Amino acid sequence: MTNGLRLVLFGPPGAGKGTQTRLVSDDLDVQPISTGDLFRSNLEKQTPLGIKASEYMTQGILVPDEVTIDIVLDRVMSIHSDDGFILDGFPRNTAQANALDEALGRRSRPLDLVISIDVPEEEVVSRLSGRVVCRSCQTPYTLAGNGQESERRCDRCGGELYQRDDDNPDAVRKRLEVYQSETLPLLDYYRERGVLVEISGVDTVENVNNQIMALIQRVSKPQDKE
Ligand code: AP5
Repeated sequence: MTNGLRLVLFGPPGAGKGTQTRLVSDDLDVQPISTGDLFRSNLEKQTPLGIKASEYMTQGILVPDEVTIDIVLDRVMSIHSDDGFILDGFPRNTAQANALDEALGRRSRPLDLVISIDVPEEEVVSRLSGRVVCRSCQTPYTLAGNGQESERRCDRCGGELYQRDDDNPDAVRKRLEVYQSETLPLLDYYRERGVLVEISGVDTVENVNNQIMALIQRVSKPQDKE
């Protein structure tokens, strides 16, 4: 059932959601849906959605639900009900979680698993100050600090690497506050529904990925789903 997996990767800014979403969706044939990437690629193309979203993103606050929910749910519902997806960065508040549940409920295909990747604040700040992302495919990288970054290109698509506007210290502080006040309460929401697993994100990318893949294997066994 891994191809039909319906997974949410949850966690604070810099937890590694985007990194792990790429690894898992490459491994299993499931569609990655990242709200941040969606907004940034729209901004690259200067679409009205991208321009509108960037007003909020640069401040480190959530893009309003009336802009976000329909776009994400359109994506989710455009995927065949037997096929899987990974949501990275959605839902981020109760209204988004309710809207997602309702949409999936209409197909009788609820979420299989919500994995929360926990990373402490000081690690988040350190990771985000050293992050660059690809302008074209949004893959994140960590600056090597060897002075050769300006020549480096994306390993996946050869695109230009840049630092995100919202990775400055003020915006990161605000994003962490918003995570605490608006997004973190969703842990209880998913815990009550029996789909939440919490893991530590303070380990190598490979070890975090191994933990995630093991959890996915567990929910794929029919006896574990009863
Ligand atoms: P979004 O782009 O989703 O940002 P975020 O949630 O703040 O998460 P990040 O992308 O910063 O981090 P990540 O967890 O993906 O970590 P990454 O893998 O890059 O959202 C941006 C904005 O869009 C929001 O602030 C909001 O304005 C808006 N938005 C998005 N969704 C929304 C929604 N649903 N509703 C309303 N508004 C929304 O890794 C970070 C760094 O660490 C990288 O350099 C990476 O190489 C490195 N790294 C990864 N794993 C490890 C590891 N295990 N060890 C060491 N380094 C690691």
